[in-house]
Amino acid sequence: MTDDQIREAVREILKANTHHGYSEEFQTPYCYIQPSTSTYPFQYFWDTCMHVFILTALDEHELAKENMRSLFAMQDEDGFVGHMLHWSRVRPAKWTDIFQSRPTRKLFRPHMSALIQPPLVAQTVQRIFAGTQDREFLDEMLPKLKRYFDWLAKHRDIDGDGLISIITPFESGMDWKPTFDQVVGFKRGVANRRLFWRVVGTDARNFFHRYDIETLAHKRYFLVKEVGFNTIYSQNLTALGQLCEEVGDPDAVRYTEMADRVTRSMIDLMYDREETAFYDVDAGTGEKIRVLTPTIFFPLVIRGLPESISEALIDRHISRKDEFDTEYPIPSVAKNDPSFNPHESEYLWRGPTWIFYNWFIYQCLFYRGFRDEAEVLEGTMRKLIQQSGFREYYNPFTGEGYGAENFTWSGLVVDMLNLTEST
Ligand code: GLC
Repeated sequence: MTDDQIREAVREILKANTHHGYSEEFQTPYCYIQPSTSTYPFQYFWDTCMHVFILTALDEHELAKENMRSLFAMQDEDGFVGHMLHWSRVRPAKWTDIFQSRPTRKLFRPHMSALIQPPLVAQTVQRIFAGTQDREFLDEMLPKLKRYFDWLAKHRDIDGDGLISIITPFESGMDWKPTFDQVVGFKRGVANRRLFWRVVGTDARNFFHRYDIETLAHKRYFLVKEVGFNTIYSQNLTALGQLCEEVGDPDAVRYTEMADRVTRSMIDLMYDREETAFYDVDAGTGEKIRVLTPTIFFPLVIRGLPESISEALIDRHISRKDEFDTEYPIPSVAKNDPSFNPHESEYLWRGPTWIFYNWFIYQCLFYRGFRDEAEVLEGTMRKLIQQSGFREYYNPFTGEGYGAENFTWSGLVVDMLNLTEST
């Protein structure tokens, strides 16, 4: 496949999965893209952001705007936006989704879930603005973004260090990431039914406490400062600051300072100097959770992070034979971790390769000048798509495709193609 053929294939998948409609409940037109028509039928928060990165890379800016408008169309007065938006299809996809809904809402009408997902939303608005210079769109979205980020800081920075705590593994977007095992009380190893009940139990407990964050923070059931989430939070606070500056909004300074604070706390609390890795932190105990997953690299994408850290981290971990070095990197947990399982499984993010991880780490490597390492990831993405199509995830040794077919966000590869071409 040539690069242009890849672009056309991605455009086709996104268009085929696009849904337009009008919501009587919210008195608004809506537009969203299903990540997969069979498995994931709703509008999802961070999936929408990935779609916008892909759409802007394909010059589909109008469709990108419609998706962002819909994502914020149900926003609460206080700024909250849930991780799943039920527009036309209101019944759950899985019975366990019920525990992710807000108990007080009418479940059989259009509604949002109670969870959050990584907040890529300021960068997506910035991308759209960069591609269109549409000041009206920016003026429309900026107050919504500000309310959203203010909500996050107010409700999820539970101890004032600037970092966000998630209250269930699913808020990370990397649902069964092995870091969370010890927090839910599962002995590290390949996932099984016991892990399932532990994690679903976490959601059920949150649900029965009506997602009241004060109660949950007090009880310290599941509170994790996750590296991926907080990296994205810092990046997006920076983007929000830049958007404010663009329109002369004095809050620019406040958001930029918040971003710097998050980065400093990540270095202080998550960075392990001896092991040269950024680890998730159990916010209940303050302990680092020493599991090697691709998020150990994520903070390298933050421009203000010292060079000395990035060099040490890349040197030590990126191509170590017993960690992330496979035929089709980068596996979603190090090969030598007891939880590693390279095969298809309902327990996602525990071994196979995801285009999302490659896309994210590609940016870290690319911006920091590790071009050879970045090229390896680029080559892998091309090979995977050539060989197995746009699948949800892939076997890191054989490249076999697993999970949903025609999975939209494996189309992130087009954003990487643009980045490569930009030099
Ligand atoms: C899976 C992913 C999650 C995503 C959802 C919809 O649960 O782990 O990140 O938002 O599917 O695609």
